[in-house]
Amino acid sequence: MIVNSDRRNLILAFDVYGTLFQIKIPDIPEHIMNEWRQKQLEFTWRLALMEKWLDFDEVTKIAFKYICEKNNLNFNDSILEEWLMLKPFDDVSELKSLCESYDLFILSNGTYKSIQALLKNSNILDLFKKIYSVEEVRTYKPSPKVYKDFMNKHGNSYLISSNAWDLAGAKNVGMKAIYLNRYNIPLDTLSQKPDYIVNNLKDIVRLKLT
Ligand code: LAC
Repeated sequence: MIVNSDRRNLILAFDVYGTLFQIKIPDIPEHIMNEWRQKQLEFTWRLALMEKWLDFDEVTKIAFKYICEKNNLNFNDSILEEWLMLKPFDDVSELKSLCESYDLFILSNGTYKSIQALLKNSNILDLFKKIYSVEEVRTYKPSPKVYKDFMNKHGNSYLISSNAWDLAGAKNVGMKAIYLNRYNIPLDTLSQKPDYIVNNLKDIVRLKLT
């Protein structure tokens, strides 16, 4: 989906959940949120390995349903509307400066529909030149298919993510990567290191990326 296109610069491709947006919903305790997120990711990895496809909205819903059942909580469909209203991290205000020097893309597991709603609700949709969803290849990160397809279509680019496994997927196929270490979690030792590690989007403004 092309949102805004007039120039061509180096691309910064942003992960969404946990990177630009906080995975927090007011009425849900943190440990339930964490369990939900972990199950959601596990389902995406399993689907990718099994070469099956269900979109991220569906995965998000069945993961939540399962976590509710496991914790003896009532499943309420309406909570999924709140998933579309997640709050961005404060430093997304830096995207304005970044889009003066780079083309900002989204590179996410999320569906177009949900990502568009999130970006729109936070008034940052116009800063992005394109939303790339894994819907284009119908599998999930960190499958090499995702990053390869992205690079084939768009060329030289950096993935920016706070999910270490996501950066590992990008580096695995030669895509450049920046770890936005929001949670003070060290990189694991299985994968190649990203090109840069920063703690805040402001730090990326200062990098001279090529
Ligand atoms: C995404 C998830 C993986 O936005 O955070 O792609």
